[in-house]
Amino acid sequence: MSEPSGRNEPFDAVDVIVTKRGKQRLSDEQIDWVIDAYTRGAVADEQMSALAMAILLNGMDREEIARWTAAMIASGERMDFSSLSRPTADKHSTGGVGDKITLPLAPLVAACGVAVPQLSGRGLGHTGGTLDKLESIPGWRADLSNEDMLRQLEDVGAVICAAGSGLAPADKKLYALRDVTGTVEAIPLIASSIMSKKIAEGTGALVLDVKVGSGAFMKDVDDARELAETMVALGTDAGVTTVALLTNMQVPLGLTAGNALEVRESVEVLDGGGPPDVVELTVALAREMLAAAGREDVDPADALADGRAMDAWRAMISAQGGDPGAALPEAKETHTVEAPADGVLTQLDALKVGVAAWRLGAGRARKEDPVQAAAGVVMHAKPGATVRGGEPLLTLHTDTPERFDRALAALDGAYTIAPEGSRPDLLPLIIDRIAP
Ligand code: URA
Repeated sequence: MSEPSGRNEPFDAVDVIVTKRGKQRLSDEQIDWVIDAYTRGAVADEQMSALAMAILLNGMDREEIARWTAAMIASGERMDFSSLSRPTADKHSTGGVGDKITLPLAPLVAACGVAVPQLSGRGLGHTGGTLDKLESIPGWRADLSNEDMLRQLEDVGAVICAAGSGLAPADKKLYALRDVTGTVEAIPLIASSIMSKKIAEGTGALVLDVKVGSGAFMKDVDDARELAETMVALGTDAGVTTVALLTNMQVPLGLTAGNALEVRESVEVLDGGGPPDVVELTVALAREMLAAAGREDVDPADALADGRAMDAWRAMISAQGGDPGAALPEAKETHTVEAPADGVLTQLDALKVGVAAWRLGAGRARKEDPVQAAAGVVMHAKPGATVRGGEPLLTLHTDTPERFDRALAALDGAYTIAPEGSRPDLLPLIIDRIAP
């Protein structure tokens, strides 16, 4: 055992690292200390990186994960929506390509009488961020005070905004570190990262959309199920009614990937149209959120069909300074990729389309990079569709045409056109449901 490094520190970071390196459980006291000490700078980044890698390699049991989550919640403030006149429900997606579901979902659930406090993030890498998408609407702003958020939840019923710096600050620091040390893909760290923010946010009910496939963190169903079960247990133990759906991210969601392009598609859904997969998942998640908040008597499909969800969207966008009627930005340049042959599209890889959209300018490589509102990819067909050689398959959008080459390189092998009569071999859109 080495000596504690800080004069008043009860533990030594090296001992905590060595415990996990040796496949031992961390004690409650070690976990509380290491999270607190890292947040205040008494544990160095390189020490936390080593611990994160030891956790990735050797895992944590359910009690350790619960304690780690509680310690991250305790690193910051907890919000409280108990003064609202309606119940609250939130949705969290583990992230995917073309995943714009939050945009139609939040106003839809609000229109059904349940308030949606959706604290969202910006995109990093090939998955888009909800705030980046909404920021393509002229005037819309993501930063609200806690008071503004509460007022909007009472008046409109839905708010999508940036999480304040006071919410789980330990996670902010740790997530940035994991991002650059190859330690994002650890189930205990993903589960505690997501759930610490959602529990601190104070929602009464939570529906998790755990994505599976090339465009998701979790590439196979068993890993996704383990992540979902871990998060459902964490939420339930913290008093939040939590369920999870495992959903397909082998293929992008909908027909667009890119900020303004996805807003346009979301508005089509609110207007009663839109791609069938986006509509199906939006309604399925809305049903789960309403049921978890005690309102299984309401059918969200009605609120989508009769325009109440669209009214709630307009109110939500206006309340945050946006003009819901304003024209969305259009890219300066487009490039069309044509189907190389007649046949059936059997594969359209989510990761490759996401990387192409990112390279066109829709996403960022570092968190301080700007994004292009109009950049992205429009898909003209989804797996199962019959295509004709020479017809448009994908259209690439960007303001900076020098990006086309790298985006096209990302699309190498992204799609397969098989002889007529072939069928795609894909997981269903909704693969499974995990409840406590
Ligand atoms: N999203 C998060 O908030 N945290 C993770 O660790 C992964 C995805």
